[in-house]
Amino acid sequence: MNAGFGAVSRSSLAALALLAVAACAPAGVSYNKDVQPILAKNCTECHAPGQKGFEASGLDTTSYQSLMKGGKFGQLVKPGDALTSALNMLVEGRVHASIQMPHGREKLPAKDIETLKVWVNEGAKNN
Ligand code: HEC
Repeated sequence: MNAGFGAVSRSSLAALALLAVAACAPAGVSYNKDVQPILAKNCTECHAPGQKGFEASGLDTTSYQSLMKGGKFGQLVKPGDALTSALNMLVEGRVHASIQMPHGREKLPAKDIETLKVWVNEGAKNN
């Protein structure tokens, strides 16, 4: 009886641990399915031609091509390198609170921040 219960709870713990790992490190992030909806929801109202984020920085998040083109000061997404990509640095709040993105708002949910990071580290593909 006890042994049986122990075995069940051990295996459900193992399953939970696997789920936790999967949640922290989503593999195979897609630009179209995962990244674009995050940008459309949180960034594009300011980062599109005519809007204040675009006017200030030159970043246009309406398409993959405009995102990869970068801003006034150059590339903001460096494929394979989320550590030094301005996009990731700003959404993670690694630069300064005053220029955390989305500008003047709550940080993105942790899972969205992670999705952007994994996507850049996987090569920032148009997939
Ligand atoms: C409320 C408007 C607003 C929203 C929403 C917003 N931004 Fe911005 N963004 C700005 C402004 C304004 C600047 C210029 C900041 C400055 O110069 O202080 C900027 C600058 C940036 C820059 C820096 C560009 C550079 O040249 O260094 C990046 C990268 C950026 N935003 C990414 C994002 C991302 C990604 C999102 C969505 C998660 C986002 N922003 C949401 C207004 C916004």
